[in-house]
Amino acid sequence: MLEFPKRWLGASVCALFVAVILSGMVAGAGDPVTGRDYTGACGSCHGSKGISTNPMIPSLAGQDRSYLVGQLQDYRQGQRRHAAMEGIILTLTDGDIAYMATHYAKQASMASKKQFIFKKGEEGERFYKACKGCHGDRAEGRDGIPRLAGQQAVYLERTLLAYQSGERSAPGMNEVVIPLTPEQVKALSRFLSSLR
Ligand code: HEC
Ligand code: HEC
Repeated sequence: MLEFPKRWLGASVCALFVAVILSGMVAGAGDPVTGRDYTGACGSCHGSKGISTNPMIPSLAGQDRSYLVGQLQDYRQGQRRHAAMEGIILTLTDGDIAYMATHYAKQASMASKKQFIFKKGEEGERFYKACKGCHGDRAEGRDGIPRLAGQQAVYLERTLLAYQSGERSAPGMNEVVIPLTPEQVKALSRFLSSLR
C-alpha cells in the first residue's frame, strides 16, 4: 500500500524539479542558452537562414553578435524604430535576444550568397576608404560594429541616407556619410553588397 504514495511523491518531486529548471530558463535573462528560438517568425522576413531575399530587409547571417544584441535592444526600447519590427520585438526577453543574436551570428555569412557581380574599378570602392578603420578591410565588422559585406544593397543605401538625415545616428557614422552625394551612396552600397 505504501508503493503508491512513494511513487506519487517521486513523481511530484520530479515535476517540481522540472518546474524549477524551466523557471530558471525563463529567468536566465541574457543567457544565449535559455532564450527562445524565434527562427521561424524572424525567418519569414529575414530568410530561413538569415539571408534576406527582400532588398529592403537586412540579412542577419554572420552579423556581429554584439551589434545584433544592441540593435534588438534599441528596437525594444524604441530608440530605433521600424513598423516591421515593432510587433514582434516587444515579445522578446533579454534571453530571447541573446539567443537569436547568437543564432544569427553563427549562420553561414550573408556574404556567402552572391548578390551581384561588381565590376572591378566601378566607383564605389574608393568611398569605402573612410570606413575601413571601423568596419574592417573587407567590411567584415567586429565588436559592435556591423558587417556590411554581402548586405542587401538597397537596405545599405536607405540606411546610409538615414545616417545622413540624422534619422539614425552613431558616433563617427553620421559625419562620414554627410559629404556623399546620393549617387555616391548608391555606388558605395553596391560595392559593399558585392563583397564576399
Ligand atoms: C515583418 C517582417 C519582419 C519580421 C517578422 C522581423 N523583422 Fe527584423 N527587420 C525587418 C526590417 C524591414 C528591418 C529593417 C528596419 C530598418 O530599416 O530599420 C529589420 C531589422 C532588423 C535588425 C537590424 C539589422 C541591422 O543590420 O541593423 C535586426 C537585428 C532584426 N531585424 C532582427 C529580427 C529578429 C531577431 C526577428 C524575430 C524575433 C525579426 N527581426 C523579425 C523586418 C522584420
Ligand atoms: C568611427 C567608426 C565608424 C566609421 C568611420 C564608419 N562607421 Fe559605419 N558604423 C559604425 C558603428 C559603431 C555602427 C553601428 C551603429 C549603431 O549601433 O547604430 C555603424 C553602422 C553602420 C551601418 C548600419 C549597418 C546596418 O546593418 O544597419 C552602415 C550601413 C554603415 N555603418 C556604413 C558605413 C560606411 C559606408 C562608412 C564610410 C563611409 C562608415 N560606416 C564609417 C562605425 C563607423
